[in-house]
Amino acid sequence: MFDLGYSKQRFAFNSHGASAYRVLSEKEYCSMKYAARLIDLTKHYFLGDNVVRALRGVSLDVPEGDFLAIMGSSGSGKSTMLNLMGALDKPTSGQYLLAGRDVSVLDDDELSLIRNELIGFIFQSFHLIPQYSVLDNIMLTFQYRRNSSGITSKDENRAIDIAGRVGLEDRLDHKPFQLSGGQQQRVAIARSLINDPQIIMADEPTGNLDSTTSAEILNLLTELNNEGRTIIMVTHEPEIAALAKNQIYMKDGEIAGQGIFPGSLKSV
Ligand SMILES: Nc1ncnc2c1ncn2[C@@H]1O[C@H](COP(=O)(O)OP(=O)(O)OP(=O)(O)O)[C@@H](O)[C@H]1O
Ligand SMILES: [Mg+2]
Repeated sequence: MFDLGYSKQRFAFNSHGASAYRVLSEKEYCSMKYAARLIDLTKHYFLGDNVVRALRGVSLDVPEGDFLAIMGSSGSGKSTMLNLMGALDKPTSGQYLLAGRDVSVLDDDELSLIRNELIGFIFQSFHLIPQYSVLDNIMLTFQYRRNSSGITSKDENRAIDIAGRVGLEDRLDHKPFQLSGGQQQRVAIARSLINDPQIIMADEPTGNLDSTTSAEILNLLTELNNEGRTIIMVTHEPEIAALAKNQIYMKDGEIAGQGIFPGSLKSV
């Protein structure tokens, strides 16, 4: 469901894919719950006398349970947008609601709390700690827990369960360099699941993987989506984006269209 900003009407995709959508009634619109709502968000970077307008007023609604792919060429603002949606960064202007909460009014501590509670992050380069085992990498978040009294056996059992879930039960003692790229990304996915997040944000999760391994990772993301989690994924690859439920295409810091290719948005 997207409010694309330049229209007052609200749209929902239907089951026939990205190019088919219908206008929602006000009642339908009001009864929907949103994982994320972006309202005219801008992000400007100030470099000396230069201003980089990385996002130029983006409005978007992501309903709970969506699997959204964000496409677009390099430098179009995809990661900037995902970082704002993940509350890893703050917008220059506009409003952002994460699971119904206005995060623009939260301080850094509150932001990190809400992030830990709600969101799991996955990145292209896995972001694993090389000297840690698979199990310790999965349990990394526990080390940052407030008032932590150390990692309990309950924590460890949970991490082992999740490792099994992503097919790594027989790799728990391996170090990242002893794993394939796909296995390393599975560790990162397992780590992102440790707090049972409602929302998973993935920035090019298959960018370093071959096509067979990419498909496996996408299957895993699809399973997580089928459990009701919202997935928001940046990708360059049309065949990966096609496996998401919905797609948007970014261009020059704006949403240029819905669908995998630019210009595929029907005019409204
Ligand atoms: N920290 C920063 N400081 C200054 N400019 C930045 C910063 N981060 C991003 N930019 C600029 O903002 C624009 C959008 O960058 P962004 O990383 O969002 O693009 P992207 O669509 O994710 O690209 P890619 O596909 O290459 O990852 C680019 O012009 C980039 O140079
Ligand atoms: Mg990027």
